[in-house]
Amino acid sequence: MNFYVLTLFPEMIQEAVMTSITGRAITDEKISVKAINIRDYADNDYGQIDDYPYGGGAGMVMQAPPIYDAYQDIVKELGYKPRVIYMTPQGKTYEQSDAKSFAEEKDIVILCGHYEGVDERVLEEIVTDNISIGDYVLTGGELPALVVIDSITRLVPGVLNNDDSAVTESFEDGLLEHPQYTRPAEFNGKEVPEILLSGNHAKIDEYRRQESLKRTYERRPDMLESADLSEKDREFIDSIKSD
Ligand code: ADE
Repeated sequence: MNFYVLTLFPEMIQEAVMTSITGRAITDEKISVKAINIRDYADNDYGQIDDYPYGGGAGMVMQAPPIYDAYQDIVKELGYKPRVIYMTPQGKTYEQSDAKSFAEEKDIVILCGHYEGVDERVLEEIVTDNISIGDYVLTGGELPALVVIDSITRLVPGVLNNDDSAVTESFEDGLLEHPQYTRPAEFNGKEVPEILLSGNHAKIDEYRRQESLKRTYERRPDMLESADLSEKDREFIDSIKSD
């Protein structure tokens, strides 16, 4: 999986991805991340790539030609037109199913905007997916791009040590994950739930499923509408509802 990030702050991308699991995935050549400075495509010696908005108003707008030229260089290198994600609060709200869909690509371009926006015409020309990471406004698309890169990278085969953890975690089966515990067995007077020390794996699985249902019901009841629930799951939810 190769990521190409079009940005005004390449160091922000490059440094962040070199840490933790994305860093290891790069070292192991499971992914590559190329941060491309849009300023390198400016048509002037100052590296200026923004201008005043037509029609007036506050702020500056990123110009179309430098972004388009940077994109064309990637298309030339790849020999085809890859998916291009534009990070914008006006996009579709990002979720796990989007990460899964992007993880099927071989190459992904991510465009990070800044200032008041980007000239609409280049967005029309190159963008395939407008993505928002939530209903709040950030100063630029770099942090959202890192969120997208991280969430896709952990789905790339061989990136996570324990292949199971990608499928059992929150959202994968439409439910939040059950709580986890490790040593010490007692902390601040709180004991680890006894069932987890029992060694009875069938009982532990049942307990965890119930905790997962309970947590989802309490924190994200909206998710229960589309979750894959058995008759037993539904009975359990009904029992906590009547508590
Ligand atoms: N750029 C600024 N805010 C954003 C958001 N919430 N999601 C994606 N890109 C953004």
